[in-house]
Amino acid sequence: MRPIEVEICLGTTCFVMGASALQNLQLPESLRAKVKISYVRCLHLCKNMDKFRKAPYARIDGEVIDEAAPEKIIQNITQKIKDIAHATN
Ligand code: FES
Repeated sequence: MRPIEVEICLGTTCFVMGASALQNLQLPESLRAKVKISYVRCLHLCKNMDKFRKAPYARIDGEVIDEAAPEKIIQNITQKIKDIAHATN
């Protein structure tokens, strides 16, 4: 299975809005080998706040996550892994 791609924005807007909590995201042991995390300077979503409700932002396999927090990201990754497993069975 290909890894789940997680992009976490550490740009100024996202950082001010709480992305510092995502800086060293600790994944549960069961997810670590299934996820590739990268940190980016700006996902260019902060300029479109009416569409994407609230920073900080992350993107998981291309899906935008607003108000990103560690628990929300982990929950989303877990769901994507379940969806992929379900789709391939
Ligand atoms: S600073 Fe995070 S989307 Fe721009």
